[in-house]
Amino acid sequence: MTSPTTRRQFLQAVGVSGGAGVLYSTMVALGLAPAAQAAPAFRAPNRSDFTLTGRSAKSVLILGAGVAGLATAYELAKAGYRVQILEARNRPGGRNWTVRGGTVETDLDGQTQRARFSGGQYLNAGPARIAQHMVTLDYCRELGVPVEVFGNQNADSYYFNDNVGALSGQPIRHREAKADVYGYVSELLAKATDQGALDTHLTGEDKERLLEFLRSFGAIGPRVAGDPAASWRYTGTNRRGYEVEPGAGFQAGTPKLTPYPLSDVLASGVGRYFSFEFGYDQAMLMFQPVGGMDRIAYALEEAVGRRHITYDAEVRSISNTGAGVSVVYTGPGGRTRTATADFCVCTIPPQVLAKIPSNLTEPVRTALAYAVPNATGKIGLQYRRRWWEQDEKIYSGITNTNLDLSAIWYPSYGYHGAKGVVVGYYNNGANARAYAALSPADREARAVAQGVRIHGEKYRTELETSFSVAWERTRYSEGGWVSWPSRTTGGHYGRLLEPDGRVYFAGDHLSHYIAWQAGAFESARKVVTDLHTRVMSS
Ligand code: FAD
Ligand code: ALA
Repeated sequence: MTSPTTRRQFLQAVGVSGGAGVLYSTMVALGLAPAAQAAPAFRAPNRSDFTLTGRSAKSVLILGAGVAGLATAYELAKAGYRVQILEARNRPGGRNWTVRGGTVETDLDGQTQRARFSGGQYLNAGPARIAQHMVTLDYCRELGVPVEVFGNQNADSYYFNDNVGALSGQPIRHREAKADVYGYVSELLAKATDQGALDTHLTGEDKERLLEFLRSFGAIGPRVAGDPAASWRYTGTNRRGYEVEPGAGFQAGTPKLTPYPLSDVLASGVGRYFSFEFGYDQAMLMFQPVGGMDRIAYALEEAVGRRHITYDAEVRSISNTGAGVSVVYTGPGGRTRTATADFCVCTIPPQVLAKIPSNLTEPVRTALAYAVPNATGKIGLQYRRRWWEQDEKIYSGITNTNLDLSAIWYPSYGYHGAKGVVVGYYNNGANARAYAALSPADREARAVAQGVRIHGEKYRTELETSFSVAWERTRYSEGGWVSWPSRTTGGHYGRLLEPDGRVYFAGDHLSHYIAWQAGAFESARKVVTDLHTRVMSS
């Protein structure tokens, strides 16, 4: 084991016969890899895993052509597994759904919408943004899906809150809110520091360094000798923006220097939104596929091979048969068919799967029922003119509000084009349910009435058409994503991480990236590794 070549050969042999998990634990035992909590790096199954060991690839039936199902098929097929996907919808992607002109959808309440967006315009009804660290971008790279920046924060978008004191009902630019909150917080902390309130925590040197930081962080004034009240004052900054822009010659510009009063800023609650952009998942830069999120789904479809996917195939029952699995589904044209395979990977969302007849064990059925689906919705509003860019100098980004629309998103594509699709609401929970209860026309009217308060009448008059999605009322999803009351109580969550006989489970709900495609990809990789390890050790 001392020669590097010998050691490499040994590790390769372990990898072939035992899969990536065994390889990694062997390396840990040999002191060649840290015994960390993280799962070992994913290693896709390989054809040589079979050819070198005299084993043969198995057949795998995959239920659902969302990201998890497609990724499972894609990775297993690399090693020659015979994969077949059954998908109830007539397209790949599942919740990864880009609505374009011509998209038709009938919801669980029987309401049919036909999107009338113009060519090149779209609404990412489900996933819309991808963080740089997510495996989703690795798949974009591998599959050749071009990406572009998604504007998740914008200094020039707004906050708009009702019932929050003097600043109620007025749009406040993000840059104004930030300048004032940072400025006042810096002033208060500087005063407290300089007046000795923090002396038990800070040395004299610490205090001077902190004060120096706060001066630049908050754009506050200096110490005024002998006048603590006049020291460290926040009196506004051109970070807030300009009434009259700087220009040529002597036009210095007129900054919007005067801050909102401290008490009004605190009451407005705008500072509570800032932590969003500090979040690991939501910090800029973020990305989106060029042309719509479904480019990922279609790239996966192409990589898997269209012939390996049956659309319009609604699974009606799932059975472990001992030697394999048997799945009954209604195929295209409504005929009932049965598919069989050595193994099954089921990616149907738990709240949907729970209602499908099966001989899955009782603990599995209990675990499926333990997941709590979340209501969420979006509306795409197509405008004939990109007034947010032309009139308000907003290029992508998000306006946050405490109105029940929650958020308005300005498109991160098609800049300076003729038209654009604004997300007119993106909300969750009770707000989403309130919109879900309305007809599509009433959802539009409600969203527009609120948007007019922020952007003025053009929000109504320049509107051409809309399309809305209530995910909990969407067939084959019945929710945007799920939450687990606990990941440990009753062992429910953990039960679904293990196969039930020959049926494996995958999806974002079985990851710590719930509500992210990264969770679906990571879960698919885990199941592929588990299944391949089992096949290689049998
Ligand atoms: P699904 O996509 O739900 O796939 C399950 C598949 O099973 C579906 O195709 C479904 O049609 C099929 N199916 C259901 N029932 C049957 C049946 N009886 N027979 C056959 N097939 C069936 N992720 C991000 O990365 N970035 C984001 O910005 C983001 N935002 C989101 C916003 C919203 C509003 C929503 C809803 C989701 C968002 N997500 C985001 C999460 C992302 O969409 C999911 O994590 C991911 O798409 C889940 O993939 P999946 O394969 O696990 O599940
Ligand atoms: N991950 C989803 C989003 O960022 C919920 O909108």
